[in-house]
Amino acid sequence: MKFFVPASISAMLAVAGLAAATAAPAAGADASLLTDAQKLFRPLPASPSGANEQAELGRRLFFENRVSADGNVSCSHCHLPELQGADGLPKSFGVFGKINPRNAPTIFNAALQFKAHWRGDRETIEEQAEKSPTGAVSFGNPDFAAVIAKLRSIPGYPGLFAKAFPGEADPVTQKNWGRAIGAFERTLPRPTRFDAFLKGDEKALSPAEQAGLRKFIAVGCAGCHDGVGLGGASFAKFGVVSDYWKETGVAEPDKGRADVTKNDADLYVFKVPSLRNVAKTAPYFHDGSVAELPRAVRVMGKTQLGVDLADKDVESIVAFLGALTQPVPADYSAPAPFPDAAAHK
Ligand code: HEC
Ligand code: HEC
Repeated sequence: MKFFVPASISAMLAVAGLAAATAAPAAGADASLLTDAQKLFRPLPASPSGANEQAELGRRLFFENRVSADGNVSCSHCHLPELQGADGLPKSFGVFGKINPRNAPTIFNAALQFKAHWRGDRETIEEQAEKSPTGAVSFGNPDFAAVIAKLRSIPGYPGLFAKAFPGEADPVTQKNWGRAIGAFERTLPRPTRFDAFLKGDEKALSPAEQAGLRKFIAVGCAGCHDGVGLGGASFAKFGVVSDYWKETGVAEPDKGRADVTKNDADLYVFKVPSLRNVAKTAPYFHDGSVAELPRAVRVMGKTQLGVDLADKDVESIVAFLGALTQPVPADYSAPAPFPDAAAHK
């Protein structure tokens, strides 16, 4: 009893985000860490296998430049394999070098989330994909008919759409463009070392990473960044305790979801982003205003929780976040160019 009672109380406090920063036991001695973590987070479910006609078509469309207004932009222009599905820029640029108002998140975790985009203005990844080709600063097409005309003119596509959507008289449609790309995106999540840990392999995280996980829970980060995505399942104000722009130094704050809903209650509200792959997707926040992860963690402590995290705590949390990196899927790459049209009969 003597051993169990205090341990379980401290676990409960920690799960509730109430444990004092000093209450975290030394790494290696934290027997309740796995059970605490299993209450807050969930391992990745199995991804659908990549081998289906819709996902194969979606992959090809994802890497296709020829449907953009200037012939240079595909989805992969801003969601690059070598940059973990993001683009490494504070703000993306699309057709004719036009700047997007926000930072490009990785798409690796998009399928796991409750809505798409920083402000949640797309309900699903399929809707996101359907609308992207007519975005003025992404693909720049005047309407979707222009996209369909280009797809029909490229030998190979009509046949692949027909194979992916059998039985449809006219399968080259906006809906099927969205469905195919969505099917591809749904194949992209891969388990990380943190998933192995959550499934019971405690050695999958180093002692330093385990200490960081304990800190992440104890200071309250998991109050928002929880579940399978460590985020991606709710909205929250950026700046619960103090104005975010004072911490990040931006001159003109983005009003966030309020611009979408026209409701003042949503001022400076953004989707809580998934932290999967976060160590590889700098710069940070909706505006890419923070270049480095330790600083982003510090800003979070200040704006969301009202705490000034000590250097060693920031370092520790950053070590844990490094365990959320997944491998880049082998088929997240441009497929071989179309063989000549004859081969596609
Ligand atoms: C010009 C650069 C650019 C191009 C091209 C582009 N994206 Fe994005 N993508 C972004 C930016 C920037 C955001 C964030 C937009 C926002 O939140 O307002 C984003 C967001 C997303 C999201 C939501 C991610 C999340 O976590 O909320 C998905 C999914 C996505 N893009 C997929 C695609 C697909 C599929 C295509 C091609 C059809 C595409 N993107 C083309 C820059 C781009
Ligand atoms: C009250 C909810 C809340 C809490 C608590 C919280 N966050 Fe966040 N976090 C958010 C929101 C909302 C954003 C998106 C901010 C924006 O608009 O860019 C975010 C963004 C981030 C980002 C940037 C991700 C990216 O891809 O750019 C990191 C890193 C992060 N949080 C880590 C943490 C850590 C570490 C803690 C604990 C110290 C924490 N958060 C606590 C809500 C929260």
